[in-house]
Amino acid sequence: MDSFAAARSRMPDLEARIAANPGAFRILTGERPTGRLHLGHYFGTIRERVRLQTLGVDTFVILADYQVITDRDTSANVADSVDSAVLDYLAAGLDPTRTTIFTHSAVPVLNQPMLPFLSLVTEAELRRNPTVKAELAASERALSGLLLTYPVHQAADILFCKGNLVPVGKDNLPHVELTRTIARRFNDRYGRIFPEPEGMVTHAPEIPGVDGRKMSKSYGNAIALSMTADETADAIRRTRTDAERTITYDPEGRPAVSGLLSTAALCLGTTPGQVADQIGDRGSRALKTLTTDAVNDFLTEHRRRRIELESDPRIAWDVLRAGNEAANRIANTTLAEVRDRMGMSYANVR
Ligand code: TRP
Repeated sequence: MDSFAAARSRMPDLEARIAANPGAFRILTGERPTGRLHLGHYFGTIRERVRLQTLGVDTFVILADYQVITDRDTSANVADSVDSAVLDYLAAGLDPTRTTIFTHSAVPVLNQPMLPFLSLVTEAELRRNPTVKAELAASERALSGLLLTYPVHQAADILFCKGNLVPVGKDNLPHVELTRTIARRFNDRYGRIFPEPEGMVTHAPEIPGVDGRKMSKSYGNAIALSMTADETADAIRRTRTDAERTITYDPEGRPAVSGLLSTAALCLGTTPGQVADQIGDRGSRALKTLTTDAVNDFLTEHRRRRIELESDPRIAWDVLRAGNEAANRIANTTLAEVRDRMGMSYANVR
C-alpha cells in the first residue's frame, strides 16, 4: 500500500477521533498565493476547512507567499492573490473569529526553528522526497536550495503553531511525513515540544478542469470562484468537446465531456453518470448549458458575499492583520521554547 492509500485508510478512525474531541486538534494548512482560487480549491480543500472549523477544530490557514518562488522567478501579483484568497475564504465561510488566516512572510520568527530542523535531515532524505523529485523532473531548472528544502520550511509552517492535523493533497503528503520525522528527531534530541502531525487527505476526488485535465490556472481550464456568471459561461463555452451527440462519462476517451460532467455533478451533488443520462443525446451544447447553470447556481451565494466583502477593502486586510498578529504571538512562544530546550535562552531582546 502506498502512503496515500495508507493515509486514506486511516481517515475513518481519524474522523471518529475528531468528532469525539475536536478541541484536541489544531489544523495547519494552506496554499501558495499564485493566482485566483478556483472550484478545484473549493471542492478539494476550502469546503473541508469550513467543515472542520465548524466541528470546533482550531484552524490555521497559511498563505505561503515565500513558497511562490519555489518554482518561479517572480513574486509579482502575490499581494493580489493574497487579497483574493482572503475574500474567497471569508465568502466560503471561514470565520476569522475561529480560523487564523495569515501570510508566511508576516511571521518572521516562524522561520528560525528551520535552522535546527535542517540539522535533523540529510541531503539524501531531501532528495528522496517524491514531490521535490517530481517538481524537479517536470521543470528545466536546476534544483534550488529553496525547492530542496521545501519539506523543511513546510515543517516550520506546521510546527510553529504545533499543528497536529494537516489537510493536504496527495502531493503534499510526503512533506507531512518528513515533518513527523523532524518533530520526532527534535523531541528525541532536545525534549518533547512538538506533536507529530497527521496528514489528512481530503474526500474530494481530484477535480478536473473543464477540458478534463487537472484543474489548473496554467492550463486555462479553471473556473475561478471570483469569476462573474458571464465569465463562467464563456470559459465553459470555449471548452473543446466532441461532435458525438450522446453524452457519456468516459474520462479517458472523452476528457472534455467528462470534465464538464464532473464539474456539473460536483455542483449539483450528484454523479457524472447521472448528469450524462439527463443530457442523453442532446449533445455538447446542452451539456454546456447545464454545466454553466449548475456552476452559476452553486456559486451565486459565494459571489454575492464576495462582492459585499470586496466593497470594503479594509475587511480582508483587517482579517489578515489580526491573523498575522495571532500567528506572531504563537511563533514567539514556540521559538522561546525551542531556544530554552536548546539551552539558548540568554539575554533575550524582545
Ligand atoms: N505546499 C502547499 C501547497 O503547495 C502550501 C503549504 C505551505 C502548506 N505550507 C503548508 C500546506 C503547510 C499544508 C501545511 O499548496
